[in-house]
Amino acid sequence: MPLVATRSIVEPAVRRRHGVGAFNVIQLEHAEAIVAGAERSGAPVILQISENAVRYHGALAPIGRAALAVARAATVPVALHLDHVTSPELVREGVELGVGSVMFDASALDYEANVRATAGVVAHCHAEGVWVEAELGEIGGKDGVHAAGARTDPGEAAAFVASTGVDALAVAVGSSHAMLTRDAVLDLDLVAGIAAAVPVPLVLHGSSGVADDNLAAAVRHGMTKINIATHLNKAFTAAVRTCLREDEHLVDTRRYLGAGRTAVTDEVARLLGVLRAS
Ligand code: G3H
Ligand code: ZN
Repeated sequence: MPLVATRSIVEPAVRRRHGVGAFNVIQLEHAEAIVAGAERSGAPVILQISENAVRYHGALAPIGRAALAVARAATVPVALHLDHVTSPELVREGVELGVGSVMFDASALDYEANVRATAGVVAHCHAEGVWVEAELGEIGGKDGVHAAGARTDPGEAAAFVASTGVDALAVAVGSSHAMLTRDAVLDLDLVAGIAAAVPVPLVLHGSSGVADDNLAAAVRHGMTKINIATHLNKAFTAAVRTCLREDEHLVDTRRYLGAGRTAVTDEVARLLGVLRAS
């Protein structure tokens, strides 16, 4: 099964009330591990590269092309998504490279400016057949709409979707980015309320801080795309740390990066089971 459009993974998942795992790629090993985990569980998956990861590498093309190559060789459907992009230029670059979707993040702007900027990106992406995820304006705290206390208003969410034409919406329902513990409490009634008010799939950011049963409940209440990054990096780093601690003479990078990759594969396979069994 080759690289597929994000839409072709997300739309059937909405109909079946399944969650879709969207996992962040920083190193090549992430892409390899995420696809291996998806193949083991027999589920489709979304690889996502954030603007921060692009900044880390200094350019999109090397890591983007590597992720595309891993996706094309997969035996399950795999889509490539650009995550938390604030630069319209990077959106254009991603579309040219062949990504299936983009999350355009104008959440730091006020509502009107966010709508204008997002609608512009939607017009460009839709002309190229690319799916667009966006989010509402910043509500408060350094983490914006994904601060634990932030909440999306269902009516405003519906108006935002209608004004921008976005294909999916990231919403604030109690999660927060980069949590190292999995004890965030999601407002499940709000998830259901937004899902009823909004005609597009909903996206949960900061899902690393949400425990398995709460992730499954969020999917049952209407959440579809589940973004997970930090949790996989915890697994990767713990395995690398153990490997290096066990052999202080180890210098072959394949040994410890390989251990990290195996740990991420195992966790992706497990998480995809949680999201599908919801
Ligand atoms: O966009 C990516 C996600 O929101 C990841 O957040 O690192 O807290 O899992 P996380
Ligand atoms: Zn996010």
